Amino acid sequence: MQDRVTPEDTAKQIEAALAERFGESFSVDPQLAGLDELARIAFHRVHRRFLPRAVEPALLRLLCACALSAPSKSDLQQGDILAVTDKAKQRAIAALIPDMPWIADAPVFLVFLANGSRLPQIARWRDKPFPNDHLDLFFNAAVDSAIVLTTFMRAAAAVGLGSCPISAIRDRSDVVSELLVLPERVVPVAGLCVGWPAEAGGITPRLGLETTLHEDRYGTGELASQIDAYDRRRERQRAYRRQRDPERWGTAAVYGWSEDKARQYAEPLRADFGAFVRAKGFRLE
Ligand SMILES: Cc1cc2nc3c(=O)[nH]c(=O)nc-3n(C[C@H](O)[C@H](O)[C@H](O)COP(=O)(O)O)c2cc1C
Repeated sequence: MQDRVTPEDTAKQIEAALAERFGESFSVDPQLAGLDELARIAFHRVHRRFLPRAVEPALLRLLCACALSAPSKSDLQQGDILAVTDKAKQRAIAALIPDMPWIADAPVFLVFLANGSRLPQIARWRDKPFPNDHLDLFFNAAVDSAIVLTTFMRAAAAVGLGSCPISAIRDRSDVVSELLVLPERVVPVAGLCVGWPAEAGGITPRLGLETTLHEDRYGTGELASQIDAYDRRRERQRAYRRQRDPERWGTAAVYGWSEDKARQYAEPLRADFGAFVRAKGFRLE
């Protein structure tokens, strides 16, 4: 028989996970309600390798319903989920992004959509003016979609499924849009690979809370030294396996998060996304 996991054990596990994540210590009260939920959030990691085991359609539908129960700006309900059940379509999307084989391998592939089409449509049906056709329409729909995506990931984790968002589908938004027959003012925010995890995965350290948690006013403290400390912590705990583009940038003696992200964003990425969103009918002024 397995030993029962006590609230004290769970509290200790959360403390350990957050210490690994943020490089500082936390004290978790074992009496706190909802420790299991906090533990799942604290243990978060994406999964890119899956067992060859199907996800039951009824379970998927349940998780989608939970995800779509997420809060929505002004109750406008502008985040949709598109389940890609046609494996030929999934393979076609995966073929656009050959360096991410987990897209083709995922037992389930979902696309989270920002849907700005229903609101102006309703205005027409209800014979009302629609003076809100500007950047905020796109922004609200994108935020709603991201919240639905996050909620799906949490629901999936609660039943033991793993997942990995795929914003790389926006490298070829036009092709994805055509494959999925997306109408005007509906754009993909991210894909999501979902399946039963093939490995435990690990915690990715995050920037320290002194950098990302502010109080009363934006903290502009010692950013350079904070990032330097994070780079070193990250290298100790979860070093990058390879350096990005060494032909262009050489091999760095110390290769931390900031070097990796600076190299990543030294390349133009999705410079045509604004043009795609505008072509889809969103006005971004
Ligand atoms: C909006 C979003 C888009 C992402 N896009 C991709 C992607 O295209 N391909 C991929 O392999 N991982 C993608 N990821 C996963 C991140 O790389 C991952 O969350 C990050 O490295 C931190 O790891 P962790 O989530 O395990 O802590 C994405 C994550 C988010 C939130």
